[in-house]
Amino acid sequence: MQIDFKQFPTTRYQGSKRKLLPWLYKHFSSLQFSTALDVFGGTASVSYLFKTMGKTVTYNDYLRCNYYIGKALIENDNVFLTTKDVEFLLRKHKTIKYIPFVEDTFKGIYYTDKENAWIDRFLCNWENISNIYPENISEYKKAMAFYAFCQSALKKRPFNLFHRANLYLRLNEVKRKFGNKTSWEGSFETYFKSFATELNGLIFSNKKKHYTLNNRASEINTIKAYDLVYIDPPYIRKEASGSDVDYLKFYHFLEGACDKQKWKTRINYSSKNLSLNDSKSNEWTSPKFNKIAFEDLFKAFKKSTIVISYKEPGIPSKSKMIKILKKFKRRVISIPGKEYSYALNKNNGFHKEYLLIGLDNN
Ligand SMILES: C[S@@+](CC[C@H](N)C(=O)[O-])C[C@H]1O[C@@H](n2cnc3c(N)ncnc32)[C@H](O)[C@@H]1O
Repeated sequence: MQIDFKQFPTTRYQGSKRKLLPWLYKHFSSLQFSTALDVFGGTASVSYLFKTMGKTVTYNDYLRCNYYIGKALIENDNVFLTTKDVEFLLRKHKTIKYIPFVEDTFKGIYYTDKENAWIDRFLCNWENISNIYPENISEYKKAMAFYAFCQSALKKRPFNLFHRANLYLRLNEVKRKFGNKTSWEGSFETYFKSFATELNGLIFSNKKKHYTLNNRASEINTIKAYDLVYIDPPYIRKEASGSDVDYLKFYHFLEGACDKQKWKTRINYSSKNLSLNDSKSNEWTSPKFNKIAFEDLFKAFKKSTIVISYKEPGIPSKSKMIKILKKFKRRVISIPGKEYSYALNKNNGFHKEYLLIGLDNN
């Protein structure tokens, strides 16, 4: 099967597998499976590959903002954002009460006052889209609108992240060696319309029913059987602290925006960047606990073919990881991929990508 990867969704996300899809495709093609679970779905680029390959896909991610990506791109087969929807989402309506929450709370942190006001208006309209369509349609429209919002918001951020209160990087009139000022300064409205159009072009049906979950990996219901389980967890680099891979710290602004009512109560007001307090600790970002998390996950899905995206040098080490996987799978194959330098900080050195595949047959 010939796949045109240029047509796949563009991504601006830490650890996105978008660039590795042709390599992943080559190796997934050699495995027999019809149903797949993408445990750490992120941008859904791998789920989208599975969908393109004709599989039945279950997308999962613990962040709500990512859940909407899975809903919009994977589960959604036939709902589109119309020009009227986009107009509704972007216009001011007399019937809607607008609250300047982002404008008041995030002043000078990530976006300009004008952009914050745009976000407030969008989010209030977005909450109201459920009143226009029946639930089975509005759930997808809502997810699609949030997808286009997230992509626009990320495009306008230095490093495409919310890890620092650094609007000044955008606004200072200095010579820069990084980033793209032209992208940061493009308007939310222009980006939103363009991502909505891009997204409409990505929706298709492969005639299978797909599912989207918003669970912690350890809380995924294991009653349902999956032929293949794909595991691409936060990467804990050897000699790095857990906060290096804390996705809630990277994307807290988008996560907060998904639920404005709770946002104000979840913000850590003593943090400079107004990040969110996590309700529970995350074993997948802890060098101390992630080994146990891997072992528990392998055990839970021991009947499935298990495929792990592993980066070296990581915690646990590759040999340790293979040892854990061998407790549950008869045969483990290790496939080396490319070597990379880090986009954010070249001083952090290189990493090498592997696929570890746990199988039961010979
Ligand atoms: C390396 S990224 C996955 C990238 C993805 N394969 C892609 O191509 O975009 C890891 C993902 O794990 C999610 N995550 C972190 N902790 C999690 C947990 N405890 N349960 C489920 N998902 C989690 C993060 O939100 C992040 O999207």
